[in-house]
Amino acid sequence: MKKLIVGNWKMNPIDSSVAREMFLLVRKQSVALKSVQTVICPPSIFLGELKSLVSKNCLLGTQNVFYESQGAFTGETSPVMVKNSGFKYVIIGHSERREMGESDLIVSKKVNACLKSGLKTILCVGEKTRDESGDYYKFIRQQLTEDLIGVAKKDLKNLIVAYEPIWAIGKNALRVATPEDVMEVSIFIKKVLSEISSREMAMNVQILYGGSVNEKNSENFLKFAGVSGFLVGRASLDPQVFNKILRIADNVK
Ligand code: PGA
Repeated sequence: MKKLIVGNWKMNPIDSSVAREMFLLVRKQSVALKSVQTVICPPSIFLGELKSLVSKNCLLGTQNVFYESQGAFTGETSPVMVKNSGFKYVIIGHSERREMGESDLIVSKKVNACLKSGLKTILCVGEKTRDESGDYYKFIRQQLTEDLIGVAKKDLKNLIVAYEPIWAIGKNALRVATPEDVMEVSIFIKKVLSEISSREMAMNVQILYGGSVNEKNSENFLKFAGVSGFLVGRASLDPQVFNKILRIADNVK
C-alpha cells in the first residue's frame, strides 16, 4: 500500500491563481514519487479549476461534504456530486468543523453517505487534551464507535482514519506530539476498528497522523508511529516544505 500524504489547505489561499501555482509545484514533485500518493484538499471553489491539472500521483479531494445526495440544502455539496465530478477523497469530521458544531451524529451520517458513494473517506478523530489517567482512550473509542455507526463492513475498505490530537494541531499547539504518543493511539485505533469489524478489515484501514507535521518530524512519525501517511495543515501551504515531506516519505521504507 502506498503512503498517503494529504494536504489540507483549509481556507487558503485567497486566490485561484495562487492555488494553481501551488498545485502545479506539488504535482511536479509527486510525479517522481514511487511509494507515495499525494492528495490535495483545497477550498471547494478551486476544485473545478484544479481538476484539469491532476495526475495519477497527485489527486484532489474535498474538506467536507453534506450527507444528502441532492435537494434543498443551501450551501452544501453532496458525496455523489464529489464522486460524479471525478474526485475520490474527502475529509470528514475535522476538529475545526466539530468545533463549529458538527456532532458525532452528523459525522456518522456524513461518513455513511461518503462510504456508500464509494469515496475514500478520511475520518478525523482525536482528543482535546491528554490526561494522566488515559481518559483520551475512552474519548477516541467513543468517537470512532459513534462516527462509524451504521457503516457496512464491506464499505470499510474505503475508510482512512486520521489521528489528529487537537492539542498538537495548528499554531496554538500545546506541544508537538512524539512518535510514541501517536504509536499508542494508532495501535488503539486498529484495536477498536477490529472490534467494530474484523481484524483483517482493521489491518487494511490506513491510519494517518495530523498535527504540526513538518519536514523535520515527518521521517520519525513514519518510522516509529505506526502510521502510513499524514494529514498536513500549515506545512502544506508552502509547496517547498510540502514537497520535502513528500520526498522524505518516499524514501522511508
Ligand atoms: P497543522 O494542521 O498541520 O497545521 O497542525 C493539521 C490539521 O488541522 O489537519
